[in-house]
Amino acid sequence: MKKVLGLMLLASALIGAAAANAASEAAYPADWQKWSSVSTTLTKIGALPGCDADVGTLPLIYQETVATYCNVRQGGPGAVAVLVNPAVKSIYEARVGKFPDGPAMILHLKDMKVLFVTGHKDGQAQYGVYTEEGKDISAESGPLAMETCRACHTGYTAFCVEGQCGKLAK
Ligand code: HEC
Repeated sequence: MKKVLGLMLLASALIGAAAANAASEAAYPADWQKWSSVSTTLTKIGALPGCDADVGTLPLIYQETVATYCNVRQGGPGAVAVLVNPAVKSIYEARVGKFPDGPAMILHLKDMKVLFVTGHKDGQAQYGVYTEEGKDISAESGPLAMETCRACHTGYTAFCVEGQCGKLAK
């Protein structure tokens, strides 16, 4: 009995430790430098601005994105690119979902050298935050938390499809 209790305590300690260490859900796409960059609403703007930028003319979801990230660095996150896994480029372009399992899209914060990754598992969007080299830098709460990504990308169902919020812009 004592032994069983000990095992149960060990198990709950391990579960506790896992909860305290935030982890990206989407895998790091090691070949990201080979992915193709696309022109979108955001990349045409060119950068995620600082908190004093006037973004009142942008769609609400973009205003919220700026409000969430303008503080992560002085002057805002800066230059961005959107990269799409070549294997799912036609799905990205069609913007109707049905992504296969695996990492699909990246919001590359170029000045910060950070990758925001969206992938899929069984049709559900998953998120991740990595350095360019692949170190998981997702957080338990705040702007780099999986729940923050999910609240916007999965939550904005009127705007985003299976976690894809952007679209091609000319
Ligand atoms: C408040 C809303 C909001 C939050 C929070 C947010 N995003 Fe986004 N994200 C957007 C919008 C809007 C776009 C589309 C930008 C464009 O025009 O290309 C986008 C683009 C992206 C893209 C490019 C593919 C796409 O969906 O267009 C990825 C990948 C991405 N975000 C991942 C993340 C991750 C990972 C997090 C959490 C760390 C996150 N995002 C947090 C709104 C948000």
